[in-house]
Amino acid sequence: MKTLIINIKQLVQVEEEPRKWVTGADMAKLGIIDDAYLLINEDKIEAFGKMSELNQDAIYEGTDTVKEIDAKGRLVLPAYCDSHTHIVYAGSREIEYIDKIKGLSYEEIAQRGGGILNSAERIRKASEEELFDSAYARLQEIASLGTGAVEIKSGYGLDTASELKMLRVIKRLSEETPLTIKSTFLGAHAVPVEYKGRQTEYVDLIINEMIPAVAAEDLADYIDVFCDKGFFTVEDTDRMLNAGMKYGLRAKIHANELDYSGGIQVGVKYNALSVDHLEYVGDEEIAALKGSETMPTVLPGAAFFLNMPYSPVRKMINAGLPVALASDFNPGSSPSGNMKFVMSLGCVNYKMLPEEVINATTINSAYAMGVEEELGSIAVGKKANFYITTPITGIEYLPYAYGTDLVEAVFLNGEQI
Ligand code: NIG
Ligand code: FE
Repeated sequence: MKTLIINIKQLVQVEEEPRKWVTGADMAKLGIIDDAYLLINEDKIEAFGKMSELNQDAIYEGTDTVKEIDAKGRLVLPAYCDSHTHIVYAGSREIEYIDKIKGLSYEEIAQRGGGILNSAERIRKASEEELFDSAYARLQEIASLGTGAVEIKSGYGLDTASELKMLRVIKRLSEETPLTIKSTFLGAHAVPVEYKGRQTEYVDLIINEMIPAVAAEDLADYIDVFCDKGFFTVEDTDRMLNAGMKYGLRAKIHANELDYSGGIQVGVKYNALSVDHLEYVGDEEIAALKGSETMPTVLPGAAFFLNMPYSPVRKMINAGLPVALASDFNPGSSPSGNMKFVMSLGCVNYKMLPEEVINATTINSAYAMGVEEELGSIAVGKKANFYITTPITGIEYLPYAYGTDLVEAVFLNGEQI
């Protein structure tokens, strides 16, 4: 079965030659074909180009059935890749939201047993079934908004059994939904209550028990550590990333959200796939990232929701670095997985151009979760994950109309969902 989409007003993020990521000044460039067609064969992109070059014979090669969709006035873009989420969780945390409005800081809430520890208490009590069902509903919501790939972290279990429970839920989600899912072990998200004052012993538990157990069941692609002031130190992080590496778990870490924590440097030392948050980035951090294989990833939803300082994105791009944007969907710091709103925040709060936020939420975020060879752009042979907009003027309208979905149809693996 083939699907042919015709009369596309703008086919966006097309690549003749697939790239691994987009850096510096190139982030403001975007491959766009006006008045285009897109041909899908089963779950892959077979061809695309200008309508005037559409070859009817080639379309029917190898098939009798071609479903045609007229996209007049509409844009087609690759589905978002959301490279940083905590989508498996039990219960929402709007009480803390109110505490924050009243003036309590993130750290104060964490010290009162709130924050991550609040979610840990709930996840320990929740069944695998409950966790699966609530996360499944969240995935359906983000897919309807145009997300086709998502990285999901554990990190609300904070004991071996509960961390494994979360990771098994993530595995089942990847088997039972059309989204492409990568799984990250985040045992080092916070020190659980029973280890209060014994952080090093908790780190030992992660190294000696959790990492081997996660690897034995092959439950994770990556390992994460919250390396920041008040959470895990550079030394802790170094030990855990080193242990993870021995089990084939590449690093993808939370760094420099609360301070110049050294997280970026230790991440780069271990060739992390990404370092995420990055509110505190200076010349030293930029120098460490230059020439590395690590994707600087900014989470505009969390900075917006927590009213944090903004990461110096322009400075990083001007220094020639690539930048990815992700949602950080979680119950505490970013209860939304709306990547289009993330693009709007990128434009308004970080002074990124529409071209830059599209690159940051597609090809660069695909790299940040290790799927850039199959997703993140419209390229021949890549997976057919894309969405069709409602009739709009052009790409600028997407981040501009920040409160309207503008999604008419979403295709994952070549099938409309
Ligand atoms: O990415 N910064 C660390 N962890 C999460 C917050 C999780 C929570 O508050 O539940 C984040 O923002
Ligand atoms: Fe996070």
